[in-house]
Amino acid sequence: ANGDRVNRPRVKSAVNEGLIERGEYDHFMLKEIHEQPESLARSILPYIDQATQTLNLGDVADTMFAKADRAVAIACGTAYYAAHTAKYWFEQKAKLAFETDIASEFRYREPVLPQTGPAMFVSQSGETADTLAALRYCRQNGTPAVAVVNVPESSIAREAAAIVPTYAGPEIGVASTKAFTAQLSVLAVLALNAAKARGHLLPGDEVMAVKSLMALPRKVTEALEAQDDIREIAKTLAPCRDVLFLGRGRYYPLALEGALKLKEVSYIHAEGYAAGELKHGPIALIEKDLPVVVIAPKDELFEKTISNVEEIRARGARVILISDAAGIKAA
Ligand code: F6R
Repeated sequence: ANGDRVNRPRVKSAVNEGLIERGEYDHFMLKEIHEQPESLARSILPYIDQATQTLNLGDVADTMFAKADRAVAIACGTAYYAAHTAKYWFEQKAKLAFETDIASEFRYREPVLPQTGPAMFVSQSGETADTLAALRYCRQNGTPAVAVVNVPESSIAREAAAIVPTYAGPEIGVASTKAFTAQLSVLAVLALNAAKARGHLLPGDEVMAVKSLMALPRKVTEALEAQDDIREIAKTLAPCRDVLFLGRGRYYPLALEGALKLKEVSYIHAEGYAAGELKHGPIALIEKDLPVVVIAPKDELFEKTISNVEEIRARGARVILISDAAGIKAA
């Protein structure tokens, strides 16, 4: 499926009037995937000082995170998985307790809100009803809202105490692609700023982090160069009925997002699991007709995830490993 989402009147008229075109691409989603180096650069550059290679977010981090007891992040779908990934960054870098919640669940509980910390709302459109309702709940209870939104004139942006925009540009494809990576980059900026405001980021580490952020558009360009190989692998998944996605640590939410994306665009049933959970049930499903996509760059958790890969291979299933050069070599 390559459905295009045209659910906002402003974007719809821009498409109809020919202001936004598919160009050489078969559909908007593909175009938007290829726009990522640019949309990432647009989303990162406003928040860094290139000359000094330091973070430059303004006072949001000081006012919202410096003295926070904890933070919550609330969103739906792909935006929720971006928030879930950010949980790892806020906890590891900023030493801040960070909870995430699906907006449609959050608002039907009686959640205990942070005493001195913010509630964050992540949304491409800024109009998702459950996310907006959760924001209103937090406001009514006196918790300041920080919105990470792609549409600055949206309801969520207007009603939040602070906005940290993503600059992905209009997203027309039905599945979130460039908006997701823009959300991740801005959440990384926020987590690093929170770390700085809380005294957990040394100046040398700040420069290193800014350099890594600035390298992202180039790295995504390199990743997109593998598209012909990726297309061939995708063809082998097309006839499958089910696909499993595994990740560990900060790649666990990415596995959930991978499964969501496959379901949404191909109608193939897919599940995302934390790699360590494999042995607690889903291993029973592993057999030769169930391909397993494993997200495991070469980091401190790599060896553990590779031990899962070995278990999967031993059961005759095919593993598609998404890793970096060092990980591919070591696997
Ligand atoms: C999946 C997708 C959805 C949205 C979700 C939230 O590809 O696009 O899961 O992420 O509906 O939408 P926003 O970000 O507009 O609040």
